[in-house]
Amino acid sequence: MSSSDVILAATAIARTYRRGDIALPVLYGLDLQVRRGEWVACTGRSGSGKSTLLHVLGLLDSADGGSYLLAGHDVSDLDDAARAGLRNQLLGFVFQLHNLLPRTSALENVATPLIYRGVRRAERLRRARAALEAVGLADRADHDPSQLSGGQMQRVAIARALVGDPELLLVDEPTGNLDLAATNDVLQLLDAVHAQGRTIVMITHEEDVAAHADRRLVLRDGGLHDEESMEGQR
Ligand SMILES: Nc1ncnc2c1ncn2[C@@H]1O[C@H](COP(=O)(O)OP(=O)(O)O)[C@@H](O)[C@H]1O
Ligand SMILES: [Mg+2]
Repeated sequence: MSSSDVILAATAIARTYRRGDIALPVLYGLDLQVRRGEWVACTGRSGSGKSTLLHVLGLLDSADGGSYLLAGHDVSDLDDAARAGLRNQLLGFVFQLHNLLPRTSALENVATPLIYRGVRRAERLRRARAALEAVGLADRADHDPSQLSGGQMQRVAIARALVGDPELLLVDEPTGNLDLAATNDVLQLLDAVHAQGRTIVMITHEEDVAAHADRRLVLRDGGLHDEESMEGQR
């Protein structure tokens, strides 16, 4: 694998939570390499550290050990402002709880990430409208989250994650709160995002959701393992 094909290379990542005297090691010796355009799914039991991993990969949290290269940048060398800049330029996030701003229209929600990129308002709204159209919700642009179904809210969240044209989409339990029909809508969207050549790292505890990815890994004992090497250990 040539280094330009690798968008993300995490090596020996460690993350321990501390509360008073108690240390809770969650990630230890975790390795992950992701190629550009690849869709990787990480499964794992509840509490295995999936969200912690996604926060570290998304520069929302820092590892306390190991090295992390994101699009060629050594993330451990960066200060908070540089990390935020990289996050805005490269990453889109979709969380299980869609985290939409309440009492704010779908259009304004989708446009929000562009504020941090210094895009002017008219252009922000133009791009947000296009992103909403791409998830099939152009006709809901003026609705606020309380006026949308769970599946629609998650599609708005996907539009928001994509509005900045990120190379890498980080997705945490995208279908966790959704019924079957809405789950299928979200999976269809992620399939389309993948087909456009974007890289996806997705966390899920649902096997049939993970089955959409190119490669499946299991988070267990602080690290990621190939599916095959897990056989017989269950
Ligand atoms: N901010 C935190 N402070 C202390 N412990 C935490 C924190 N966040 C998560 N944990 C603990 O770390 C472990 C992994 O959590 P998490 O990454 O959310 O797992 P998952 O997403 O796989 O369910 C759990 O035992 C959880 O209780
Ligand atoms: Mg979680």
